[in-house]
Amino acid sequence: MRVLIVGGGGREHALAAGIARSKLLTKLYAAPGNPGIARLGTCVDIAADDVDALLRFARTEHIDLTVVGPEAPLVKGIVDAFEKAGLLIFGPTRSCARLEGSKAFTKELCRKHHIPTAAYRTFFDAEAARQWLRESTYPQVLKADGLAAGKGVVIARSFDEADDAIQRFMIVKELGDAGSRLVVEEFLQGVEASVLAMVDGRTIAMLETARDHKTAFDDNRGPNTGGMGTCSPSAMLTPEGLAQVESQIILPAVHAMGRDGKGFKGFLYAGVMITPGGPKLLEFNVRMGDPEAQVILPRLRSDLLHLLHLAAQGRLDEAEELDWDPRAAVCVVLASQGYPGPYATGFPIYGLDDASPSADVMVFQAGTRQKGADIVTAGGRVLGVTALGTSLHEAREVAYRAVARIRFQGAHYRSDIGRQDAEMLTRR
Ligand code: AMP
Ligand code: GLY
Repeated sequence: MRVLIVGGGGREHALAAGIARSKLLTKLYAAPGNPGIARLGTCVDIAADDVDALLRFARTEHIDLTVVGPEAPLVKGIVDAFEKAGLLIFGPTRSCARLEGSKAFTKELCRKHHIPTAAYRTFFDAEAARQWLRESTYPQVLKADGLAAGKGVVIARSFDEADDAIQRFMIVKELGDAGSRLVVEEFLQGVEASVLAMVDGRTIAMLETARDHKTAFDDNRGPNTGGMGTCSPSAMLTPEGLAQVESQIILPAVHAMGRDGKGFKGFLYAGVMITPGGPKLLEFNVRMGDPEAQVILPRLRSDLLHLLHLAAQGRLDEAEELDWDPRAAVCVVLASQGYPGPYATGFPIYGLDDASPSADVMVFQAGTRQKGADIVTAGGRVLGVTALGTSLHEAREVAYRAVARIRFQGAHYRSDIGRQDAEMLTRR
């Protein structure tokens, strides 16, 4: 099978590594890919959201299956364009991508289908939002409606903070159109978990759980990032909790999207808050998580390409039950100094080859670039170092030993990835 992966981050490197293990693969391309993916296949210089160019490439190269990593091309309608051209692609249509592309759409769907989530109100008008928030108790959560690359959520501790967010989103329009509609929701207390499923329009295959660590610094301090590291499984979700998320959140959402045309096809990611009243939906993403993919996919023993191929055709019901490595995985992200704020790039990365002495350690490249013989930093999140271990404790030890072998100027990482989950599992 000739496969094209769309995207060029750590998630796509993990997808590429999974797909490259398949005997069904004859040729792997990635657009734009990165130097890590280039070791597994051919990278082509097309941006991940250049739908027309991707379609032309898939046609001329006779691609049998396209797998989309990031949300931007999905929200732009890459799946609609490929399907119209008769090409097989794994991901949701533009209509289904609204689950990630519009918070207001998703909140309304939750209300209609009784999916547990935070209570909310939607505002089009800054003054109406202000009035409501003047009389609210705090904290309150303010969310820009559209895609905002992780910058669209503010947890306001006071009216002044809420007012500042309204000003930035709705008046100054810092996030462009994404901020013209505002969702204000109840602040939920609890711990977060990531629950992912592979969906083919009807059939749902639940994936192993993971936990992201979103803040820049240890112990949930510092600003929110795209994710500084993950562990799988997450101790926060018991088997009962996972079953609740499947039946109360994933299933009704897939059912609801099924009424709306052809149904949801792709990875469906539910970010949930586990509250005393049970799991509640924080957000849907219509793609694999990043860096969730870097811990979930290395644990998948089933043939990933076979599964993606079946799912793209709406035939996931023909797949055998997913086979998982019982070992735990931890992924530690190495970021550029300053991330998620402004940061410098172009620093050579040393020790990449020494870091993965065995098959149980994988270094996924996220923000890197080839410069002559060197691989240099080229993004906020630069690398994700994943290790497998018989327990989360062991996976942590192995991952951090590998991290210690890698050096680049200003490298920053959290030292507590998976620690809380490891401690909880030991106590059980
Ligand atoms: P989102 O992009 O909607 O997942 O929000 C980003 C982060 O903000 C989440 O990972 C949570 O940590 C936090 N968050 C979002 N919504 C809420 C909420 N209703 N209550 C508490 N925290 C929230
Ligand atoms: N790790 C969070 C995300 O992929 O959205």
